[in-house]
Amino acid sequence: MPPSVVPLAQIRTPEQLARVLKKLDLTLGFDAVVEKGKSSPLAQPYRLPNFTIGNRFCVQPMEGWDGTPDGKPSELTFRRWRRFGESGAKLIWGGEAVAVLPEGRANPNQLLINLQNLPELAALREALVKSHAARWGTEDLLIGLQLTHSGRFCRPYSNRLQPRILYHHPILDRKFGIPPDHPVLRDDEIRRIIQAFIVAARLAAQAGFHFVDIKHCHGYLGHEFLSAVEREGDFGGSFENRTRFLLEIVQGIQTEAPGLLIGVRLSAFDFIPFRKGVDGVGEPEEWPRDQPYPYAFGGDRTGTGIDLTEPRQFLELLRSLSVRLVNLTAGNPYANPHIQRPAQFPPSDGYLPPEDPLVGVARLIRVAAQLKAAFPDLLIVGSGYSYLQEWLPNVAQHVVRTGQADFVGLGRMMLAYPHLVADVLEGNPLQRKRLCRTFSDCTTAPRNGLVSGCYPLDEFYKNLPQAKILEEIKKRR
Ligand SMILES: Cc1cc2nc3c(=O)[nH]c(=O)nc-3n(C[C@H](O)[C@H](O)[C@H](O)COP(=O)(O)O)c2cc1C
Ligand code: SF4
Repeated sequence: MPPSVVPLAQIRTPEQLARVLKKLDLTLGFDAVVEKGKSSPLAQPYRLPNFTIGNRFCVQPMEGWDGTPDGKPSELTFRRWRRFGESGAKLIWGGEAVAVLPEGRANPNQLLINLQNLPELAALREALVKSHAARWGTEDLLIGLQLTHSGRFCRPYSNRLQPRILYHHPILDRKFGIPPDHPVLRDDEIRRIIQAFIVAARLAAQAGFHFVDIKHCHGYLGHEFLSAVEREGDFGGSFENRTRFLLEIVQGIQTEAPGLLIGVRLSAFDFIPFRKGVDGVGEPEEWPRDQPYPYAFGGDRTGTGIDLTEPRQFLELLRSLSVRLVNLTAGNPYANPHIQRPAQFPPSDGYLPPEDPLVGVARLIRVAAQLKAAFPDLLIVGSGYSYLQEWLPNVAQHVVRTGQADFVGLGRMMLAYPHLVADVLEGNPLQRKRLCRTFSDCTTAPRNGLVSGCYPLDEFYKNLPQAKILEEIKKRR
């Protein structure tokens, strides 16, 4: 049986929330009263050496699976980015994953950065800035572009997986039908990908972005390097080799696009993949008890615990490279989504939550706080807050006020209710009907080849023809 999840919408007072947390034996700080206006901790500016970011809300990268076949943004993409701008958040972390090579796209509708698509990507950034300017000043709005190669999860030309892997992972290979003779990326192919990231960063600078994110999370290529402990050659084995990809990209960008800031979104911990178990509840995949699980970067040898030794080393490396912008997330949405995007309701390819999703939220916040304490000079964005719903502002304020993270990153909530940021900063009551309730339709839709969006709560998506198809898909489950 799934653990009985306490629906957050039913928790109406701070005392009730404290009782629920106690029952779950969870340490998750929150402020009983959310401040408004200029004195709010969430309204405080954050100062970088050459830029001041206007407040402590960050829009996380959120893909829409809605680009054109050649990787340009569509009207749906523009709409999403305009809403990110309207939200009032002053840090836009990447907008969404943008592939640096056609064969590295996660889906045939992922954005692609190249010379041909540059005018449209620049226009996308400008649309966001313009929508922000209509209500907020823009001199303190920092915007990055998330650069990616999807590695093991490439589906560049159709819904068919065309994986580019760094090593054979016994569980993920089986789960995604990768045969033992599937070729592993060669070192010379990796060097070509590194060059593509550097070229892409130069283009992003030309398009006006303040920074690029060299994506190292969610099981995609950058992240897979970190667990390539068994790989031979220049890019596997030792920590130094597993981070060579990052190092060479960063050094290349610093030479080719001086002045462009660099950030890294990192899955700071990972677990073994999970599967649907008894009653549909998630459970860890089987692994021999007498063998340590070696593929979880930031995970311990059990596969379901955390060991931050290497993530700390990774942040040391970032610091030594003068990379200050860090966005901490976890896991892999195809393998263990509950540790990355805590949700009450699973997506179509997921499983019922094996823990109260509050446990997942608290885990993400705790890890970010531990790393922030160890690296106070780095700008740290935390992830996984949307499940908090009514209590998001209370926890967010507490986290920022107590210095557990510098920014509160919002993902799904920015699809459902981007104006939450404005409402919190201005002290308006939350619009409860617009709060993301973690129905996971924004994940189920793209898993079934449809554009992503908040179908249950955003009238625009509710009225798209795809909403009916999605309903049918959900009924068949
Ligand atoms: C529909 C959807 C698209 C996403 N796209 C991206 C992406 O392009 N890049 C990325 O780093 N994370 C992506 N994520 C993960 C989110 O940025 C975020 O980490 C996650 O949803 C947890 O935060 P939340 O609780 O605020 O939603 C996506 C998540 C969802 C649900
Ligand atoms: S579909 Fe909407 S309510 Fe459901 S998880 Fe996504 S953003 Fe939240």
